[in-house]
Amino acid sequence: MDDAKGPSAIVLDQNINPWSVTGEIAEDGTVKPIDYNKLVEQFGTKIIDDALLARFERVTGHQLHRFLRRGIVFSHRDLELILDKHEKKEPFFIYTGRGPSSDVMHIGHMVPFELTKWLSDVFEVPLIVMLTDDEKYLIGKLDRSVDEYEHFARENAKDIVAVGFDPDRTFIFSDYGFMGGDFYRNITRVAKRIHRGTADACFGFDASTNIGKIHFAAVQAASSFATSFPFLFGPDTAQAAKIPCLIPCAVDQDPYFRLTRDVASQLGYSKPSLIHARFLDALQGPGSKMSASIDASSILLRDTPKQISKKIKQYAFSGGQETLEEHRTKGGDPDVDISYQYLRFFLEDDQELEQISQDYKSGNMTTGEIKERCAKELAKFCTSFQERRAKVTDEMLDLFMTPRPLLWRGVKTDTVL
Ligand code: TRP
Repeated sequence: MDDAKGPSAIVLDQNINPWSVTGEIAEDGTVKPIDYNKLVEQFGTKIIDDALLARFERVTGHQLHRFLRRGIVFSHRDLELILDKHEKKEPFFIYTGRGPSSDVMHIGHMVPFELTKWLSDVFEVPLIVMLTDDEKYLIGKLDRSVDEYEHFARENAKDIVAVGFDPDRTFIFSDYGFMGGDFYRNITRVAKRIHRGTADACFGFDASTNIGKIHFAAVQAASSFATSFPFLFGPDTAQAAKIPCLIPCAVDQDPYFRLTRDVASQLGYSKPSLIHARFLDALQGPGSKMSASIDASSILLRDTPKQISKKIKQYAFSGGQETLEEHRTKGGDPDVDISYQYLRFFLEDDQELEQISQDYKSGNMTTGEIKERCAKELAKFCTSFQERRAKVTDEMLDLFMTPRPLLWRGVKTDTVL
């Protein structure tokens, strides 16, 4: 912060909502990194502190995922309740989703899904993945067709399957395909209890917002309730009403679930718990998230090692100094350096990451070197993703998308829950 300028240097506060993400914008047009502590305060969530992390590790008996070890998953609502359930061997499920805005996904999209895979493996509970093709149609340009978004949903679903989810524990659906039945009954129960004024205040809707986008809040909410999935949790709604879910998501999705939690109490349903991930910064620097439609902003899952290396070299914002001489004496700043930040998300080895941080800060490691290390790691990530993706068939996807009982700790959900 430049003290001389003071607060008047800020022309626009950071703005994080489900449809756009920008850091604070200063007078000179620069975009500041997103202040996650401020978000926790504004949204009224809780920081995941060391004590909670230690309990998480103890309860699951697994080393925590690097996103948890490194504060990439940084905030939560009622995570303790889920850990309690797990300890008592009582049922819960995991719910996450994806808005299919195009048929390509980038490495930032993988962050919540990698986390979700880890959670579903360590907890061994059913996972529900919602593809909001309807949401993306409703917020998309007027000349886009419903068909296009249904197509994107199916393509994205294959990418999601390629993350490595267990078909015995995972149900994937698209809103257009699954709408109806008990899911739709819950949607209307939720919609009836969210007032226009509340939605406006929560999402910033105004008189020009189309009514579909307003109603959609109830759709995203309804999947938080076990009673929306009778084939999964059995016909006893009184019992299903008590089964909570854990929602891993990027923090911009929190507004939906703030409303969901309020409505849950009114309906006598368990409130969903949440854990929130940070965004993966766009290539051009902290303060905005990746966008699959802007080439200079993102690494796509389908990029080749050559394309990745070129993008990193050309576009990745550097925390290094102007000249090599200066860099050797002053060193670089890993906090804003995009290559370092990507390594923080994707490099598994804690020791190597720490070494890179030290070497970069001391000036031992140059911008060129850190970019090369980053490109190599991302190439490894994308290549192994592409190998798994090539094996995903339509039949496999159809199985994931069929409503059916799943396994909870190795037993069929419709018999035990
Ligand atoms: N609205 C989300 C998106 O645009 C998709 C989504 C639906 C979701 N349900 C979710 C994301 C639950 C996280 C958790 O990407």
